[in-house]
Amino acid sequence: MADQAPRVLVVGATGALGRIAVHEFLAHGVRLALAGRDRAGLADLAATTGGPTRVLDAYDLDTCTASGPWALSALGGLDGVLVTIGVAGFGPAATVPNAAAEHLMTVNALCPMAVLRGAVPAVRDGGFLAAVTGAIVNAPLTGTADYAASKAALACWLGVLAREVRTRRVAVVDARLPHLDTGFASRAVVGSPPPLQPGADPVMHVRGLLGDLLGHLAGPVPGRSAPAHRSGPYAPATSSPD
Ligand SMILES: NC(=O)c1ccc[n+]([C@@H]2O[C@H](COP(=O)([O-])OP(=O)(O)OC[C@H]3O[C@@H](n4cnc5c(N)ncnc54)[C@H](OP(=O)(O)O)[C@@H]3O)[C@@H](O)[C@H]2O)c1
Repeated sequence: MADQAPRVLVVGATGALGRIAVHEFLAHGVRLALAGRDRAGLADLAATTGGPTRVLDAYDLDTCTASGPWALSALGGLDGVLVTIGVAGFGPAATVPNAAAEHLMTVNALCPMAVLRGAVPAVRDGGFLAAVTGAIVNAPLTGTADYAASKAALACWLGVLAREVRTRRVAVVDARLPHLDTGFASRAVVGSPPPLQPGADPVMHVRGLLGDLLGHLAGPVPGRSAPAHRSGPYAPATSSPD
């Protein structure tokens, strides 16, 4: 009998949320291809997944774009892609150095866009293309203009992509997760975060997101809508109809 396990690419697999996603996907029997910057971390994860890995840096946009086709070839099919790459950066807009602003835009927007752009023809009809943006898109705080703008750029792009692939029933998921307890803000490339409440449980939120993604792959369920662009708590991006 053919292997029916979903086949998914996780990009940013060695980060905190990426690692949680990898372990949660594995618990659901998903076959994984992993991509990320940390070569040793990827090798470590591959010992658990038994699947293929690919090293990439956010600045190498062509390699990012080639990830989806690589995963399709390595797994023999591709049901979905989840991008968890990102970097924090803070400071009043008037003080953020241009180099830091460029870094935030490259890692948080151009890289995920490049990955998902390349994955469009690789993912199967009825699959998913997902990226983690953040609740900050809905409510940007002062002192986060450049970080928030990079995430809003990605969210906007995802909303348009969703409409472009709607006829193929591909779910484009804009995961606007809240502040989570992963230490992400402490790894900022510039500045210090504004005062933040304690982060929420990342495992619970990644589980919710993956439930949404895997539910879409499982197909329509009576009473649950399965639009090409999901509009649940993890994907509220698009509002303008074609
Ligand atoms: N944690 C939160 O509170 C929160 C809330 C909402 C949204 N998010 C978003 O969720 C995503 C993951 O966050 P996290 O909490 O898991 O943080 P994290 O542990 O710092 O993960 C960030 C990931 O991005 C990768 N990365 C950073 N710069 C890169 C570059 N130049 N090239 C390639 N990869 C690069 C890191 O690679 P390495 O593994 O090599 O370091 C890591 O895999 C981010 O997009 C973040 O904006 C986080």
